[in-house]
Amino acid sequence: MTKTFDDIRLTEEQVAQFQEQGFLHLDRLAEAEEIAWVREINDRLFADRVGWDRGEQFDLAGTDDPRVKPRLPQLMNPASHAPELEKAAFRQVAFAVARQLLGPDAERGDEHAICKPAADGAATPWHQDQAYWDPAFAYEALSIWVPLQEATLLNGCMQFIPGSHRGEILSHHSIGHDVRVHGLETDQADPQRAVAVPLAAGGCTIHHCRTLHYAGPNRSGQPRRAYILTFRNPPLRLDTPRDFPWLTTRRTARQDRVG
Ligand code: NI
Repeated sequence: MTKTFDDIRLTEEQVAQFQEQGFLHLDRLAEAEEIAWVREINDRLFADRVGWDRGEQFDLAGTDDPRVKPRLPQLMNPASHAPELEKAAFRQVAFAVARQLLGPDAERGDEHAICKPAADGAATPWHQDQAYWDPAFAYEALSIWVPLQEATLLNGCMQFIPGSHRGEILSHHSIGHDVRVHGLETDQADPQRAVAVPLAAGGCTIHHCRTLHYAGPNRSGQPRRAYILTFRNPPLRLDTPRDFPWLTTRRTARQDRVG
């Protein structure tokens, strides 16, 4: 990799926007050539279906029926399948940016890749990331969403509801009310308030773990790939755990493969 952007310093306005709105975007997180390199690795990992047998790859919006083409394939921790990704400069830059927003105790969380197929890739319905996590803990966390080509309204760029991170975790359910599906959605988001954030390749969006977000279906002729990094402060155990019934009722094929 050539030049890196390890000197990204967020402005006070950017930090304030993240705190008030719950999301932010950066036009340049990574060099275009690095994004093209990651995109090649990404496409190979999905074409080879790496991690499928262990539940690390799965269809976020489907039932993982082997006879059905996945509509929202996701791969957990791509760098564990392609160790060369450990060298990617944008992963370091993203960590440095996350620490400016979360503070010096921030640590790396999971990473994942999503490859939304061309023409009929499913929408990622409205949700809060924290709805997926252990309800016994309090979290201060964020995700940095890095598209591996441009992200547009046509191919499913990110959309956010400003200020929604300051509210509670809303009620969620499995996508389509099908408990065999891994993905979650909430019916309590107001799409009229959504702000769409198109990006050129090399840019990123950043959102808080309670910010309501959505990405539309992919109606373009190319897959819409994204690499997502999460960062968090050490979670704190709650005196009174929340109740996330949508997690206890889920029965996915992925859970069976994870074992
Ligand atoms: Ni999300």
